[in-house]
Amino acid sequence: MDNTQSGKMDNTSSREIYNISARETDNISAEGIRRFLRGGSEKYRERIRVYPVLASTNITAKELAAAGAEHGTVILADRQTKGRGRLEHSFFSPAGGLYMSLILEPAAFAFRDVTIITAMAATAVCGTVEEITGRSPEIKWVNDLLLDGKKICGILAEGIIDPKSGGLSSVVLGIGVNARIRQEDFPEELRDIAVSLDPKGIIPDIRNRLAAGIMNRILTDNPPNQKEILDCYRRRLGMLGKTVVVLRPGCEPVPAVAEELDESGALIVRFEDDRREILSSGEIHLRTIKG
Ligand code: BTN
Repeated sequence: MDNTQSGKMDNTSSREIYNISARETDNISAEGIRRFLRGGSEKYRERIRVYPVLASTNITAKELAAAGAEHGTVILADRQTKGRGRLEHSFFSPAGGLYMSLILEPAAFAFRDVTIITAMAATAVCGTVEEITGRSPEIKWVNDLLLDGKKICGILAEGIIDPKSGGLSSVVLGIGVNARIRQEDFPEELRDIAVSLDPKGIIPDIRNRLAAGIMNRILTDNPPNQKEILDCYRRRLGMLGKTVVVLRPGCEPVPAVAEELDESGALIVRFEDDRREILSSGEIHLRTIKG
């Protein structure tokens, strides 16, 4: 898939040869993902669909969900041409990243809230990254994961409302991980704020392993409850006790201290005038302050 290093120089070291072969084994495929499924997610092995290219896995997943696709259907693409992020942002999606959307029925979990599903995904990706790379990402509320302060993953959960009942009929949980993108391949505006897990291509099968690890944690026979998810999320939330900048459309950026995460996943901040506010994800974007 990612054959950017196809030529081999005469003086190539064995490590470089290993790197090249690892790059060549990074084909994402349903079969490749199935090899790493366990803990209940094997039940969904026939519901994995991998496409070479899609506009957005979330868009395709929403269409499939509307057409009746079952819980545990997972849509993946080698690359996306219109990867979407929160607040109508785009998500850089070249080959080498992991782009997956899971169709989930809320009835499979003990909670109904899209924020908690986002938190569940964030902790699932953190656990998977730790398992594969040995490194622990930090969560940036509400849906970003960072390594050394740079973004490695974004999550976009979208609820689908049943027009008859007005209730949540399914959730499309989109996860994008910068798995194997070389730093120089990020556009200039992202180069200082994004990073990938394996830019040199030394972890064989990284995308299949990431996809399976995430499925193992979300489509498990023993899904965590809301309290367990939020406890885990809170432990990984790097910004607690630190000053952040709250950005709302059409408003001046305002500094505040991120004080705590409440039991619904909302972030409680304290502004400089001592006013406290409960932020739910909505239209709010936070910028962390270095140092
Ligand atoms: C964000 O950073 O605000 C969220 C990014 C979510 C990106 C993933 S990639 C798979 C899925 N398909 C999309 O178009 N978006 C999500």
